[in-house]
Amino acid sequence: MRCPKCQFENPEDSKFCFECGHKFELRCPHCDKAVPVNVKFCNECGHKLSLLSEAPPHKDLSFDEKLEKIQKYLPKGLTEKILSQRNKIEGERKQVTVMFCDMEGFTGLSGKIDPEEVYSIMDQVYEILIHKVHDYEGTVNEMTGDGIMALFGAPIALEDAPQRAIRSAYAIHREMSRFNDRMKQEKENFPPLKMRIGIHTGPVVVGTLGNDLRVEFKAVGDTVNLASRMEGLAEPGTTYISDETFKLTEGLFRFEALGKYEVKGKTDTVNAYRVIAPSTRRTRFDVSAERGLTPFVGRERELELLLDGFERSKAGRGQAFSIMAEAGVGKSRLLYEFRKAVANEDVTFMEGKCLSYSRGVANHPVIDILKANFDILEGDGDFEIKEKLKRGLKILRTDEASTLPYLLELLSVKESGIDTKTLSPEAIKDRIIEALNRNTIKASEIRPVIMAIEDLHWIDKSSEDRLKSLLNIISGARIFLIFTYRPEYVHTWGTKSYHSQVNLNRLSNLESLAMVSHLLSSEAIDGDLENLIIEKTEGVPFYVEEFIRTLKDLKIIERRDGQYGIVKDVQEITIPSTIQDVIMARVDASPEGAKEVIQTGSVIEREFSYELIKRVTGLTEQELRSRLSILKDSELLFERGIYPDTVYIFKHALTREVVYDSILTRRREELHEDIGNAIEEIYKESIDEYYGALAEHYICGKNYNKGADSIGGRATGTI
Ligand SMILES: Nc1ncnc2c1ncn2[C@@H]1O[C@H](COP(=O)(O)OP(=O)(O)O)[C@@H](O)[C@H]1O
Ligand SMILES: [Mg+2]
Repeated sequence: MRCPKCQFENPEDSKFCFECGHKFELRCPHCDKAVPVNVKFCNECGHKLSLLSEAPPHKDLSFDEKLEKIQKYLPKGLTEKILSQRNKIEGERKQVTVMFCDMEGFTGLSGKIDPEEVYSIMDQVYEILIHKVHDYEGTVNEMTGDGIMALFGAPIALEDAPQRAIRSAYAIHREMSRFNDRMKQEKENFPPLKMRIGIHTGPVVVGTLGNDLRVEFKAVGDTVNLASRMEGLAEPGTTYISDETFKLTEGLFRFEALGKYEVKGKTDTVNAYRVIAPSTRRTRFDVSAERGLTPFVGRERELELLLDGFERSKAGRGQAFSIMAEAGVGKSRLLYEFRKAVANEDVTFMEGKCLSYSRGVANHPVIDILKANFDILEGDGDFEIKEKLKRGLKILRTDEASTLPYLLELLSVKESGIDTKTLSPEAIKDRIIEALNRNTIKASEIRPVIMAIEDLHWIDKSSEDRLKSLLNIISGARIFLIFTYRPEYVHTWGTKSYHSQVNLNRLSNLESLAMVSHLLSSEAIDGDLENLIIEKTEGVPFYVEEFIRTLKDLKIIERRDGQYGIVKDVQEITIPSTIQDVIMARVDASPEGAKEVIQTGSVIEREFSYELIKRVTGLTEQELRSRLSILKDSELLFERGIYPDTVYIFKHALTREVVYDSILTRRREELHEDIGNAIEEIYKESIDEYYGALAEHYICGKNYNKGADSIGGRATGTI
């Protein structure tokens, strides 16, 4: 407890300050009599003081102290990561989701309750807010008088940022209602505290980044303002979101459209939506599947391989299959098609998903599968869970005594029946895994089991241990395991003769165009449009779908005389934000320093030489090579030629474009000019070949004199 006089931190139950001898006293909120700390009731009026004595007295924290407090709660490692990349994040153009969260009822509270207690309550509320934001990997950027402003997707880009923001808001409301229940039990006249939350997604330019991770925005634009306006509109206890956030999360939640609102500072009215509840669909693919999928193209061979593996496992030779591909290439879709193909078979199909925001939740996909199998629903109480498990175990003919307690423990049911005194946590964990394995084997004796776990690149450690152990026991059982993951996931289960991996390739041009025809419901597509789509989407089905949707939304393509074609300047095309998010999240995930190199590379060209990037970045050979090799390993770049004559190439033109766009104009201009100068120096001898590139860099770098010289040089052969 902190001494109010000298600020010294004393042990919790001190009666006097160690440092200055100040006597600690509190006042009874009922009769205002001074009472010592650590007493339960007031000796004047009998008022219960438990809350007062439990909570250390809080003084009004200064802004810096509050920020320090936020820091304490940040997920481990994140602070270092962000700060280490600070220079590269500053001045970046980013798509972020901004959340404003404000408390309603605060004024009423300050009137009714002792100020000391108000601080203690506010502290607990802040703690809820901060935790729930961090659970979804957002960062708290400001603490306002009675709330917070949080960011999702900055300083570090995040996949699914809008979805995370809404889930975080939902968790905040839920936790606040629990908090109110708790307070009500302690204090009869406690007014319920409700949050008003507003969310909006849009571009911002990240300004300076303080040591405390607070992001200043250089060009705030409308993004932050509109989020704050949404919060202003929201009723207490609800979350309001803007059109932009709505479009990115439609289908994942149930929303109520509230119509148009006039907003200060905006000429057009804006749409607002109220978040009602999460839907049962949790991934982008679930939403598409519900809405209607693009007819399936290609992948015959891969589907054949899966069906073949299933046939073998049905005969008692268990098989495991990994489907590996980058985001959006079609892993979930292939799995879905496989599931359709075996729909008429008598099998038990179990499906678990790792989610982008669930890596911190132990056993997430394992619990998912267990609950689905035993028909355990969201609101089931401990008693119902127990009954359902018992019933299920009877059907499986599994020994209840050695299994039930461990399943209960896994589902965090109170009084699971495990003797925690004699068993270590490690031993409990092993037994849980054994119990699960036993169940799966028993289930496969009744009918073949197919177990699919999606997106292992987001798996938590405990679930991974469970899968590893399961993999060891399937070879003689009727079990077919299917995993999907992105290339960055490296599995640790070694080689097994019954495990195979399929790498899904990008679609061929013909296959992509077949998708396009389906999406536009037309075979007649103009050649230029075809080329544009092939160039921009590079055979990634997800990009094809998003890109066509954007082209249609922006009315860049239209059907004229029975044929689809481009009707506007293609310069107007921006890369859909869904695609940007996926790519930027990947780039931001690369370790320190690598990002700076890829950004510089993106300004040079899709291809750049080692010599040139070395000159422009000014890094030492060792440093630069290590950063380039990181980028190569994460498959953002590939390499051609032998060192030092190496050339680096962006694996995808789109990655280059997204990275390039994220760099602020001023910085980009500087880089272009630096690159121009470097080219002039390095290629002095054969400068003729470089006039074109030179002119472009100088012009983009706004050095028009040199730009004109380069063009002139090309014409006359001199520079
Ligand atoms: N072979 C295909 N034919 C048609 N559409 C496809 C194909 N593969 C994927 N898609 C579509 O592309 C989108 C992204 O695919 P998805 O399976 O979700 O990718 P991943 O799971 O690898 O991230 C989905 O809407 C899906 O229906
Ligand atoms: Mg998927």
